[in-house]
Amino acid sequence: MQQNFSTSLVDFIMRNATKNYLHLHSSDLTMLPKAQEAESKNYLLYMHIPFCATLCTYCSFNRFLFNANKARAYFENLRKEMQMVKNLGYDFNAVYVGGGTTSIMPDELCRTLDLAKSLFNIKEVSCESDPNHLQKDILESFKGRIDRLSVGVQSFDDGILKKIGRYEKFGSGEEVYAKLANAIGILPILNVDLIFNFPNQTQAMLAKDLELLKSLKPNQITTYPLMSSPSVKSILKRSIGEVSLKNEAQLYTQILETLNEDFIQLSSWAFSHKGSEIFDEYVVDNDEYIGIGTGSFSFLNGTLYANTFSLKEYAQRIQNGQMSVARERKYSRKAQLQYRLMVELFGGIASAKRFKEQYGATLEKDLFKEIAFLRLSGNIYKKGADYYPTPQGKYLFLSMMKEFYIGMDRVREESRAMLKEEDM
Ligand SMILES: C[S@@+](CC[C@H](N)C(=O)[O-])C[C@H]1O[C@@H](n2cnc3c(N)ncnc32)[C@H](O)[C@@H]1O
Ligand code: SF4
Repeated sequence: MQQNFSTSLVDFIMRNATKNYLHLHSSDLTMLPKAQEAESKNYLLYMHIPFCATLCTYCSFNRFLFNANKARAYFENLRKEMQMVKNLGYDFNAVYVGGGTTSIMPDELCRTLDLAKSLFNIKEVSCESDPNHLQKDILESFKGRIDRLSVGVQSFDDGILKKIGRYEKFGSGEEVYAKLANAIGILPILNVDLIFNFPNQTQAMLAKDLELLKSLKPNQITTYPLMSSPSVKSILKRSIGEVSLKNEAQLYTQILETLNEDFIQLSSWAFSHKGSEIFDEYVVDNDEYIGIGTGSFSFLNGTLYANTFSLKEYAQRIQNGQMSVARERKYSRKAQLQYRLMVELFGGIASAKRFKEQYGATLEKDLFKEIAFLRLSGNIYKKGADYYPTPQGKYLFLSMMKEFYIGMDRVREESRAMLKEEDM
């Protein structure tokens, strides 16, 4: 597998499409629209915790330096916003808590999750974390509250950890390994995030990371290609070197081959250990979601909404009984179908039945050109009425999702550039 003509072309198309489609205009909404009545609606609730003890160089997520007073007030407002969502008539069966460092105040996180469970019919809670918040007492307090904990490791290689500023913060590769080993088995699912294609990362270095992970036997592994979004590009270049796509496909093939024996693939970048309970890929399985907290996104009925990134404005809005939507964009049916086709194939299958039931669409008719291009270029194949990615297609959909994430980072960056000192 290599970075071939179709992946380069699709990368180019995606980069331009995300620039266009993720251009949001300002919104004067004070509340999100009310919930629709349809019984089949499957919403996800996303909550964002934007605080970190120190800020990693490669990270373009929405995060601010931790301050206990600000963070406590933020959690309080998050709970108020959740109540507003309830009053709009929404229900959720899944919650995803993202960061930042979500467990930076475990007691506040637990209170917030308890409120979510009392308001909605929640069956699954997934939460991001980092190696410093895997102490026994914290994990014990998460029991019965969090079903899947996703821990950022990125690499066990000390050289890489030092360059990306994680060595001092989270410890050496060996220390992180020991923290993970103690954490496995306490909560139902432990996922480990790895990043690949760091500049100068060789196949031997990646092989070592993967072997260590295999010996740990986490329930899930997520392997992200290093994303060099505009906001982190120059910092990355200075700290670890220029990001190149030259070896990306080869390293990805190595991941597929190494994990193939012990893991089942859930999406282009997520793998579940054979014998572990399968946990849904939240990006794939929830086509509509509400995001609460600063900088979160919501997608409802064909419209994408982005919340304010300013901590100050967020607090003021919530105190005034308003939600914090700052920008929005409505998409055509065609654009929504194209996006869903990419996401479903990233998740391993474009199901004819699902497209019919969820979107009233016929794959070959409504997405004729897209399906023909993907088939002719060897990226998908048909079995029964459904389409599946070939190994080359898995890499293509990983690249497409990466471009989509970089596009989202661009939205964050535009919004963050407008922040003043007092907004943070
Ligand atoms: C929002 S972060 C939160 C994780 C947690 N705060 C930590 O640092 O361990 C979730 C995951 O996104 C991935 N990530 C962050 N920045 C990335 C980048 N520039 N390229 C690829 N993956 C990235 C990392 O694997 C990280 O674990
Ligand atoms: S990688 Fe994690 S800990 Fe580092 S700044 Fe980003 S969210 Fe915070």
